Amino acid sequence: MTVPANTKTRTAEAAARPGLGAQLLRRKPIGQMVSEAGSSEGGTPLVRSFGVLQLTMISVGATLGTGILVILGESVPLAGPAIWISFVIAGLAALLSAVSYAEMAGLVPVAGSSYSYAYATMGEGMAWICGWCLVLEYAVSVAAVAVGAGQYVNETLAAFGQFLPEAMSQPPGDGGVVNIPAMVIVVLAMVLLVRGARESAWINTAIVVIKVGILLFFCAVAFSAFNAGNFAPLLPMGAAGVSAAASSVFFSYIGFDAASTAGEEAKNPKRDLPRAIMLSMVIVTSIYVLVAVAAIGARPWGWFDGTEAALVQILHEVTGQPWIALVFSAGAVLAIASIVLTVLYGQTRILLSMSRDGMVPRIFGRVSRRTGTPVAGTLIVGTAVALTAGLVPLGALADATSIGTLFAFALVNVAVIYLRRNRPELKRSFRVPLYPLTPVLGTLMCAYLMANLGADTWVVFGGWMLVGVALYFGYGRRNSKVAALSEQDYRELSTRASNPEPVKAELS
Ligand code: ALA
Repeated sequence: MTVPANTKTRTAEAAARPGLGAQLLRRKPIGQMVSEAGSSEGGTPLVRSFGVLQLTMISVGATLGTGILVILGESVPLAGPAIWISFVIAGLAALLSAVSYAEMAGLVPVAGSSYSYAYATMGEGMAWICGWCLVLEYAVSVAAVAVGAGQYVNETLAAFGQFLPEAMSQPPGDGGVVNIPAMVIVVLAMVLLVRGARESAWINTAIVVIKVGILLFFCAVAFSAFNAGNFAPLLPMGAAGVSAAASSVFFSYIGFDAASTAGEEAKNPKRDLPRAIMLSMVIVTSIYVLVAVAAIGARPWGWFDGTEAALVQILHEVTGQPWIALVFSAGAVLAIASIVLTVLYGQTRILLSMSRDGMVPRIFGRVSRRTGTPVAGTLIVGTAVALTAGLVPLGALADATSIGTLFAFALVNVAVIYLRRNRPELKRSFRVPLYPLTPVLGTLMCAYLMANLGADTWVVFGGWMLVGVALYFGYGRRNSKVAALSEQDYRELSTRASNPEPVKAELS
């Protein structure tokens, strides 16, 4: 009896697949990763159009928003006037990790961010876990961020004496039926992203300018009512309060890594990605510390307890002008919109990388010939995020985004150490300063902030991980392309590859 050729191939492939342990540890050769960059399911490449400005704006766009607009006010009662120190501590964890991101982004300038870095260093098992954490950092956090839009839309409408009924501005479980503003923002971002990454990047840049503008405006107003006495005593809640607040304000730093998902759409990724990541961190950290100092200077810390939308209230009280609150709230809605836009963008690019490796279905890697964007993937992710934002009260899940992000950041720090030890010969366009102190401290800071998060958050995170493991065994393990390589091909690729230049940039 003759066996059909394709059956023979499949049987041979299955026989050649490594065992579970070996597959989990199998690393994707860096050279293969870099030379695949720009390729897609169906052969249409992503378009390389971003310079350092757009890349920086993608990171700032993905970072600056709910954390400073909402979580700052909620965290002041935890830390007291020392809230600005909490921002510095959280910023330090983010900054140390950002430096590691910069080294890895210059070394492996592809679209998968820390998922790709983990695949190149710790193997498929860790890469999958990291990719799954990134879904928490990106898709789930963007839904959580969009949920807040309902409140700010109401703040804006309030200036005209109008309110959206709760039924239309809250999800079920939070007293409503569906959060329409959140869904509208996600759908608008999805439509923009489908049309083209370049157009989206320009709109994002414009919005970032507006949101930085409203925060600087806030600082100017708040400093006019500055009272140095509000800073004494500095630590009414002790060091523990400052630490607890640092873990909660860490949410405000999530997103600086978004530029690292644009590695395949950057004109000169090796040079510009590290610059954009570092620049965005400096911009964001400075603004956060400035806003925190201005807010405490304007109002004593006890005032923040139970105050909603604290920054708007301060503006209103200091100036006595309701229209200022209107302008600020409208700016806040835009700020949220640009997070949704850039984070949704990042998620689609991470899934594109994962689909290229067979970790998620191929549809996520299909790039449209007409727009040069992953249209199908964007529509699927956008629809899922819109439904989640509109219908799910995200409370505990939103906290879990911080823990998932910290885990991914810690892995990037470890990846830097691993590659410095095992592949010292690779060319690095950016090197972390003070190695190994910087990535070791970065890992420890991330672990410290994770440890400070509550037991509930850990339980949600554990549940999320279990779902991820089930998905890996249900899909990724069977479809992994790296696992499907024969031992000989795998060895050849691993030894041949150093880090070649990515597919040549088309300068447009
Ligand atoms: N860093 C983002 C924010 O603060 C998630 O909204």
